[in-house]
Amino acid sequence: MITLSVIKADTGGWVGHTALHPEMIATAERAIEAARGDLLIDGQVSGCGDDLALIMTHRHGAVAKPIHGFAWDVFQATTVVARDLGLYGAGQDLLSDAFSGNLRGMGPGYAELTFEERPSEPILVFLADKTEPGAWNLPLYRIFADPFNTPGLVIDPKMHAGFRFEVLDLRAERAIEIDTPAGLHDLLLFIGAPSRYVIRSVRSLALGSVAAVTSTQRLSLIAGRYVGKDDPVMVVRCQSGLPAVGEVLEPFAFPHAVAGCMRGSHHAPLMPVAVSDAHPSRFDGPPRVVALGYQVKGGRLGQARDMFADPSFDRARGMANEVMDYLRRHGPFEPHRLPMEEMEYTTLPAVGERLASRWTPIDDTGATDAAAPQSSRG
Ligand code: F6R
Ligand code: MG
Ligand code: MG
Repeated sequence: MITLSVIKADTGGWVGHTALHPEMIATAERAIEAARGDLLIDGQVSGCGDDLALIMTHRHGAVAKPIHGFAWDVFQATTVVARDLGLYGAGQDLLSDAFSGNLRGMGPGYAELTFEERPSEPILVFLADKTEPGAWNLPLYRIFADPFNTPGLVIDPKMHAGFRFEVLDLRAERAIEIDTPAGLHDLLLFIGAPSRYVIRSVRSLALGSVAAVTSTQRLSLIAGRYVGKDDPVMVVRCQSGLPAVGEVLEPFAFPHAVAGCMRGSHHAPLMPVAVSDAHPSRFDGPPRVVALGYQVKGGRLGQARDMFADPSFDRARGMANEVMDYLRRHGPFEPHRLPMEEMEYTTLPAVGERLASRWTPIDDTGATDAAAPQSSRG
C-alpha cells in the first residue's frame, strides 16, 4: 500500500494574496529533495495562487506524524522566506505555534489516499485558490453520480453499481455515508449547501476502492475568525472501473459559482486554468483550479501533466470572465456578497456592532414630515 498525501498551506503571498514567490517554492523543493528516497518515495512542490502544495507518496499511511511533521517544518521554512522578503500574510495558515502530532486543526489542509497501486494508476490532483472545500461538491457529484457527465455510470459494469459518498457536516462535526444512485436525492439535500456540508471521500461500491478524497478543514471554524479561505485540494483516481480522466475533468467545463474571492466574502465562478495562469489578481479572483495529472508507478509520481492547459477549457474561462463581470456589477449586494450567516467570520459583524445602539423598535404610525435634520440645516 502506498499513500498519496497532498498537504497545502498559505504561508505568504507575492504580491498581496495572488501568487507564490519563487524562493518559497525553491525552499520547499530543497526540503522535498532531501526527503525523497528516505521519508518519501517521491514528492513534488506545486501550488495555486498563494497556496503552496506538497504532493508526496510514502508508506507511512494517512495522518502520519512523520509526514505531517515534515510538511509543518516545510511550511515553517517557507514562512521564514516570506517574512524575510516581506511577503504578504507570512505564516497566514499556521494557526498554532507548536506541532502536536498531526495537522488536524492546525491550519494546513490535507487530502490523503492510501491504496494498492494498480498496474497503471492515473491520478488527478486538483488545487484551488480563493474558495472553500465545499467547492468540490458539485464536480464530485457530477463525476460520480451524474450520468449526463459520466457515461461510465451507465456503460461500465464496474461503475454501474454506483459510489459511496462520505459527507461531513462541518458545523455539527458529524459525518454521514450515502450510496448513489439509491441515495441520490438524500445526497443532494446536503451537498447543495457546500458552506456546511462537504464531501470528504468517494468509494467505488463494486471495487471497494477509494476513488476520491478532499481536504475539508474550514479555517474560520477552527479559529473562530476570518483567517483567509481554505483553498482546498482534491485527489481523484481514474480509469479501469473508476471515472475516466475526461469524465473527471468534464464538470470543470462549467465554471460553477463558489464562495471565496475578495475578502473570502463573495460568490464568483471557479475558473479552470493552466498552472501558469493560477494567479488570481482581479478582485482577488476569480477563484482558480488547476489539475495535475500523474501516472504513479512504484509510488513514483513521474512528470505532472497540466490538465487544464487545454484549449477545450477556453470557453469555461471565457464564461468565468463573463460571470465575473455580471456578478461584480452587484457591488456589495447579495448574491455576489455571501449571505449574512456566512459573513459571520469576516470583519463585517464588527462594523455592524458600531450601529447597534441606533436600532429602534419599528414605528407603525406612518412617515410624517418632521423638522429638517440637524445635518441639513446649513
Ligand atoms: C481572499 C483573500 C483576500 C483578502 C483581501 C484583504 O481569500 O485572502 O481577498 O481577504 O486581500 O486582505 P487583508 O485584510 O489582509 O488586507
Ligand atoms: Mg493569502
Ligand atoms: Mg489562497
